[in-house]
Amino acid sequence: MWNPVLFLLTILTTVSFSNAYRILIVAPTNSKSHAILSEGLVKHLIEAGHEITYIPAIPPDKPLPRVTVIDVSDIVSPHPDEFLNVKDFMDRKFDLDVATGFIPYILAFSEQLLDHPNVQKFMADKSQQFDLVIVEFLFNTIHAGFSGLYNCPLIWFSPTHPNWMVFELIDEATNPAYSVGRLSSNVPPLNFKERVLELGNFIMEKLIQMVWISKSDKELYEKNFVPLIRERRTSVPSLETLAYNGSLVFSNYHQSLSVGVRAPPNHISIGGFHIDQNVKPLSQDLQELMDDATDGVIYISLGSNIKSKHFPSEVKRDILEMFGKLKQTVIWKFEEDLPNRPSNVHILKWAPQQSILSHKNCIIFITHGGLLSTTESIHFGVPVIGVPAFYDQFLNVERAVKMGYGRKVDLSYKIATGLDLAIQEVLDEPKYTAKVHELSEIYHDRPVPPGKDVVYWVEHVIKTRGAPHLRSPAFLTPWYQKLYLDFALVLLILVLVLKFAFRHKFKKNDLCNERNQK
Ligand SMILES: *[C@@H]1O[C@H](CO)[C@@H](O)[C@H](O)[C@H]1NC(C)=O
Repeated sequence: MWNPVLFLLTILTTVSFSNAYRILIVAPTNSKSHAILSEGLVKHLIEAGHEITYIPAIPPDKPLPRVTVIDVSDIVSPHPDEFLNVKDFMDRKFDLDVATGFIPYILAFSEQLLDHPNVQKFMADKSQQFDLVIVEFLFNTIHAGFSGLYNCPLIWFSPTHPNWMVFELIDEATNPAYSVGRLSSNVPPLNFKERVLELGNFIMEKLIQMVWISKSDKELYEKNFVPLIRERRTSVPSLETLAYNGSLVFSNYHQSLSVGVRAPPNHISIGGFHIDQNVKPLSQDLQELMDDATDGVIYISLGSNIKSKHFPSEVKRDILEMFGKLKQTVIWKFEEDLPNRPSNVHILKWAPQQSILSHKNCIIFITHGGLLSTTESIHFGVPVIGVPAFYDQFLNVERAVKMGYGRKVDLSYKIATGLDLAIQEVLDEPKYTAKVHELSEIYHDRPVPPGKDVVYWVEHVIKTRGAPHLRSPAFLTPWYQKLYLDFALVLLILVLVLKFAFRHKFKKNDLCNERNQK
């Protein structure tokens, strides 16, 4: 019999038990590779049935189901990605691998994002509620304010190799003697000189964090979050309280991709999560080209930041000439057509990178060394030749060299000679390919693929109301207790008391003796 009440109840219970959570993802880095990563998180979570509100610096190309995008793409904010070109790097006009590199751009963008009318409108809307906030972390913590606004748990997402700033959020700053800085290209174990340099770098970064970054964060928090939080709740936590109350860190890292790190239980390695489990098939002509390349394919892409077209023309000519002498087929991701190119060199304006790397004939990957590219090289088991230009590319390439699956070539006017030597070396020495296959095996040998981990941990944090059981004991212990300063104080007091007591007693004895003598 039709029973409307029962029907309604059934609907209600299905809805409330369907475990679709409302999640806010804030991805404030204005760079294509960062957008690929945060979109990777979004995709895994909508596939698991969750509902996402997404505030990205760069919006997705096409609408995604169950995703509400707060569009801030009209922010006009120059990012080094856009205005730097490869020639400037060759001429050493910029030094973006130093500690201050990028900080002004990121801080400015954070501010513009919060000031954007769409974000302001969204934040002022009191009907918005979330079960969880995920925020991308580079070095500023301002967007932790969202977890205060919605009074819900926070997950940090670290797109780079983990460093002391990341560990400080959930554990404690790692010791520079074995853990290198954000932009350092040293690879542990460190020698004496490297350790001293890392210490200096650590102190400098700490100072920058204390006097520059956190000041900017605090001002923005007071201005953009505090009034809104006050409208919703009676007590307003400090930004520091919120930033250091993250449930866990999703780290774009895996043991096979790098040297080991010392990590607490809530540092969750999801490196490789942005790579599709099912690689899209190649277009027919590309498939045929690669199938027919019996001597192998060398794939070259210098990423989305460095435009190959900005190479000086004599450098382009030298590279083409060098490629022309090879037996291998060369596929070059290049934004313009190159006239007079040798018959074995093929230009693609847009390259399906993962599909190309997954082809068995792809034997060398020439890359700028972005973390996405080095991750993909291990995922698909292709040795790399790295030509780093800026930011963490030096670090990623240096690591590939130390781990034995890659070579480094300097971005200079002699790049063609450097590439030639490196290509011959990788072709002649099977150790590079053997090493990358070994790492690839470690990389793939996980209980579940990283995308599944993302979904599992997100749901775990929500179900367990912030997963306080994952907190590191080091994180919960104040610094003076770690240094036993309180104990030292007790000892000091004890010594002073004893000294006083003894002195007193001796004085008394002396007096007695004196009296007895009299
Ligand atoms: C810190 O996080 C826990 C778990 O998410 C939450 O219960 C608590 O209210 C948070 N503290 C503050 C001050 O927001």
